[in-house]
Amino acid sequence: MEYIEKISESCSYIKNIINEVPDAAVILGSGLGGLSDEVQNKIIIKYESIPNFPKSTVAGHAGEFVYGNLEGKKVIMMNGRFHFYEGYDMKTVTFAVRVLSSLGIKKLIVTNAAGGVNTSFKPGDLMIIKDHINFTGTNPLIGKNLDDFGPRFPDMSQPYDKELRDIALKAALDKDIKVVEGTYLMMTGPSYETPAEVRMVRILGGDAVGMSTVSEVIAANHSGMRVLGISCITNMACGILDRPLNHEEVIETSNMVKDKFKTLVREIIKRL
Ligand code: 6GU
Repeated sequence: MEYIEKISESCSYIKNIINEVPDAAVILGSGLGGLSDEVQNKIIIKYESIPNFPKSTVAGHAGEFVYGNLEGKKVIMMNGRFHFYEGYDMKTVTFAVRVLSSLGIKKLIVTNAAGGVNTSFKPGDLMIIKDHINFTGTNPLIGKNLDDFGPRFPDMSQPYDKELRDIALKAALDKDIKVVEGTYLMMTGPSYETPAEVRMVRILGGDAVGMSTVSEVIAANHSGMRVLGISCITNMACGILDRPLNHEEVIETSNMVKDKFKTLVREIIKRL
């Protein structure tokens, strides 16, 4: 079956269950899945029940859509995403974004856990993504263009929508939540960066580094969706502090900041 047919089959399946066009979609990053618990009148759609849907494999990532109401808005959350480092190709990594776009969703909030590269950042900071650097060496749009979604050479002058960023900054201010702004750089992973690579990221203009988001945001922009990106700085990237890095620390910090994160995202959703 062609990619585009697979997308439309997955989309039809979900459409039949939810019967509405959500006001926004949210992709939840590592350790940030708790927000989906707060959705009201939940409908849970397991990825494995959706025709053509890939399966997520990483611990700490569930594999389901959670649809329902939050702050008076209809939202669909992705609890679990597909990472390039898991071995999925870029078409698979961005498949869910294509499905969300096909559902008619125009606003996408993408979240992730990331390493702090900007030395003024601290673990636990929330970063509103202003721009990104695709450092994966590939692009999800390579191959035949999906003309139904967007143009061959999509504009990327505002990958993270200015209006949505302003809403996020204002929501943070009003809720007394400190946020920083910056550029997110995506590495493929799964190894963390070396100290030299982190210095390189900083020289290139990256404020935070991670292993997701950018490919999804490229597909979302191609599909004409407006995107808001939020990174949870779970740890400082390697070489900034003189000690090794581990996945447990990432999970630990996301647990520490999850209330702040949930409050912020809820307030943003309220204002969409
Ligand atoms: Cl330090 N690097 C990358 N690539 N991803 C991360 C991270 C660091 N911390 C959390 N996610």
